[in-house]
Amino acid sequence: MTKVKERTSMLDEVLHGLTGPQKSLPSKYFYDERGSRLFDEITELEEYYPTRTERNILEQNIEEIECHLGEEAILIEPGSGSSDKTRILLKGLNNIAGYIPIDISGDYLFSVASELQKAFPEITIQALQADYTHSIDLPDALPEGRKVVFFPGSTIGNFKRDTVDRFLNVVADIVGSNGAFLIGADLKKDIDVLLAAYNDSKGITAEFNKNILRHINRELGTDFNPDLFDHKAIWNEEESRIEMHLICREAHEVEVAGTTVSFRKGESIHTENSHKYTLAEFSEIVSPWFDVKKVWTDEKDWFSLQYLEPKQG
Ligand SMILES: C[S@@+](CC[C@H](N)C(=O)[O-])C[C@H]1O[C@@H](n2cnc3c(N)ncnc32)[C@H](O)[C@@H]1O
Repeated sequence: MTKVKERTSMLDEVLHGLTGPQKSLPSKYFYDERGSRLFDEITELEEYYPTRTERNILEQNIEEIECHLGEEAILIEPGSGSSDKTRILLKGLNNIAGYIPIDISGDYLFSVASELQKAFPEITIQALQADYTHSIDLPDALPEGRKVVFFPGSTIGNFKRDTVDRFLNVVADIVGSNGAFLIGADLKKDIDVLLAAYNDSKGITAEFNKNILRHINRELGTDFNPDLFDHKAIWNEEESRIEMHLICREAHEVEVAGTTVSFRKGESIHTENSHKYTLAEFSEIVSPWFDVKKVWTDEKDWFSLQYLEPKQG
């Protein structure tokens, strides 16, 4: 994508989100270099259980994971971020021929990929800057191997149902009939645990949430004042999801490329969803494309890592 096209598409999405009855912004715009680093800080927080729990699941089941992935695998990771969990796979598995990290946050992606290539010189690493909600065009020259999409972090929980379906379709296309899908899915649990994870006491999640405004200011030349918004995370029981919002502290207006957007005091911008599942619900969601072949969880059943294969026939 050229820079001009990216900017136009960002402007369209931002205007679309800010002119509806419930204002919203696409969560992918949290992530510029600062946003990626803030997310990494979140993953280190005491209250933020998903990263720690998923890492443990990966480490404790590495041998079984190796058996499931087959002789030679090419790992493809949409939304790779720090590739921190992938390091566990690259270190612990002997059957990885190639790794393709894919992320929208380009500078961060390329710096992580070059560090990884130094650490794992025997594995072909080809970083790809792309928006996985559109489509994913893999590089032409890939090493030989079984295509395995790795999608940890329960990032699938950030998608609304129609986007989940589109994304699963893209993954099914990538892996073909012989590939596999290794995916992290966060499970339903005590609401207090969930709320604490998205309302941390150090305020890092609040900074991350407001970074969406800073990122948009830089890319679109808008003048959002992040100090005029408060971070809020709530549990939406009906939709079974944590929602992050930015709540406007006082009435004001913001110019977005010639359009005036008015904010009322107390009005929210909905910035992110994180859906939580039961194992049965998750299996049902993926079922048009994939069969769940193996589920690993932690001792509290807070998080799941799932090995899926494409439906045959
Ligand atoms: C929640 S983080 C997860 C990072 C990592 N996979 C993990 O499990 O810790 C989401 C990552 O996806 C990237 N991302 C978000 N939306 C994206 C999009 N539409 N296309 C490509 N990457 C995206 C972000 O830049 C970020 O690195």
